[in-house]
Amino acid sequence: MNAAVPALRPIRALPGRAGVEIIDQRLLPHRLQLERLHTPAQVHTAIRDMWVRGAPLIGATAAYGLALQMNMDAEDAALDASAAFLRAARPTAVNLAWALDRMLAVLRPLPAAARREAAWATADAIAEDDVQVNHAIGTHGLALLQAIAARRPGPVRVLTHCNAGWLATVGWGTATAPLYLAHAAGLPLQVWVDETRPRNQGAGLTAWELGQAGVPHTVVADNAGGHLMQHGQVDIVFVGCDRVTARGDVCNKIGTYLKALAAHDNGVPFYVAMPMSTLDRSLHDGLHEIEIEERSAREVTHLAGRTAAGEVVEVQLVPDGTPAANPAFDVTPARLVTGLITERGVVAATAAAIAELAP
Ligand code: MRU
Repeated sequence: MNAAVPALRPIRALPGRAGVEIIDQRLLPHRLQLERLHTPAQVHTAIRDMWVRGAPLIGATAAYGLALQMNMDAEDAALDASAAFLRAARPTAVNLAWALDRMLAVLRPLPAAARREAAWATADAIAEDDVQVNHAIGTHGLALLQAIAARRPGPVRVLTHCNAGWLATVGWGTATAPLYLAHAAGLPLQVWVDETRPRNQGAGLTAWELGQAGVPHTVVADNAGGHLMQHGQVDIVFVGCDRVTARGDVCNKIGTYLKALAAHDNGVPFYVAMPMSTLDRSLHDGLHEIEIEERSAREVTHLAGRTAAGEVVEVQLVPDGTPAANPAFDVTPARLVTGLITERGVVAATAAAIAELAP
């Protein structure tokens, strides 16, 4: 970590491995509150209700959830039931299943008595690996920003959607890692932050993160991206992802596809920061094969914010009784993706390039 990224982590194991401490992200940016989770049931709730969110952080949290199960009952039946329960917390981000499968591969062959120690060590390794992976993504993404800076004067203007920052991971973030490294290296940046309705992960979380780190940024309504691109105000788009198929289709926060369309129409490079843990090689056609989470209509019909008096309140946006739909993710076809920034380097979003990356 460097000065641009705070030492605070969105998850950490408590001393004695009695639990984990997380940031309750539902309360940001208005309140920074830590919560302690001690059981798989609490972990399931924290993932489902988005106290923690972002694909890599969901995976790491689920891994610790299984470690918490090993504190309680480490026999086969409890292990399998708990893994299935945690796996069902949210459907779209593949990191959840990836982390649980990594845990099960270690734990299943062991006798029950050896599982607790191994579970905590593996969950810690998943968390530590994530920090290293994201730093590597940062160095590869930084090279893209430096190439733009070398071509034209003034700040490099980056548009990002949702929050793929350190809050969404264990450290650095994926799409934000290049930004933090660039800022630390003195490369001037201007980041356009999509508000990201309905839950406003951009306005609430990315803006908070970038503000804390002193990275220049401006929040824009989700609908503004196309306009900014038409007027030459965006040099590059960096987004994260929740599941990428073997042929390079990218599932990410709802609205990502519209940004990719606008970027394509305006010749703006559109890059996806993809840790290898977010690649799902079992799927090809992202549009038809990825399960898209449908969340509560209330996230669309209501909005929370802080009043001038400092109170956080929720208000209703729509007429009484108005129905609302809330698909939480969309799929950007590979043809609209300029490249995937992985810990192993930047590759084309094609089946051949991905196969070569992960033989
Ligand atoms: O619903 P969320 O907030 O969990 O969605 C998060 C995203 O879509 C992120 O872009 C993605 O998980 C990548 S996080 C590094």
